[in-house]
Amino acid sequence: MNQNDMKKAAALEALKYVQKNAVLGVGTGSTIGYFIDALAEVKECIPGVVSSSEATTRKLKTLGIPVLDLNDVGHFDVYVDGADEINDSMQMIKGGGGALTREKIAAACANTFVCVVDRTKQVNMLGTFPLPVEVIPMAVSYVADELRKIGGNPRLRSVYTTDNGNMILDVHGLKILDPTGMEELINNIPGVVTVGLFARRGADILIVGDEDGVKIQRSATVWVQQDDSRR
Ligand code: A5P
Repeated sequence: MNQNDMKKAAALEALKYVQKNAVLGVGTGSTIGYFIDALAEVKECIPGVVSSSEATTRKLKTLGIPVLDLNDVGHFDVYVDGADEINDSMQMIKGGGGALTREKIAAACANTFVCVVDRTKQVNMLGTFPLPVEVIPMAVSYVADELRKIGGNPRLRSVYTTDNGNMILDVHGLKILDPTGMEELINNIPGVVTVGLFARRGADILIVGDEDGVKIQRSATVWVQQDDSRR
């Protein structure tokens, strides 16, 4: 199996978590692309999808899957998304595709976050993948300085604007020993919209595609930002 086959295997397994007659949240990226293709085959079973990006919305609409406004839906049960890195505690770096803000909002509204990755995304410590930070354009220089103070090497993602009209700083060189603390620290820098650390609200179910097929892991953590019904 090559990496794309492993992504596809994980994505197809995630179909088992789609609930009949229930709104579903859908993330962004190449792994999720496989998931959306498969979802199109069962689209009659669901009322629609909350999308995490303009790219995902375009793909969903092309395949005839209704896209719903999160403001009309409120909370929903299952959110399926990929990750750029995931640790043993099922905390993640996300935002390689630039959709981190809408992905974090969607994840916060879901009871269950199903993360689909190939095995190359599993790490002992987060931070080898450059950490994406979405920033208000006028604050890029200030935020970059603040990120240097905490040991990062921020690089502006060139010729890129997020779906929300903002910029992305990709922060290299961070050793993220305390993901929750780092998430809060960076979120508190004025001008930061969202940091691509998903530590306060990680994944609940992890589906990993590897050479042998798929492996499934469940989190024992009740995340800070989960719906009250899970506590
Ligand atoms: C999108 O902004 C990201 O958070 C994606 O979930 C992540 O980059 C995974 O993408 P791939 O499935 O393409 O590896």
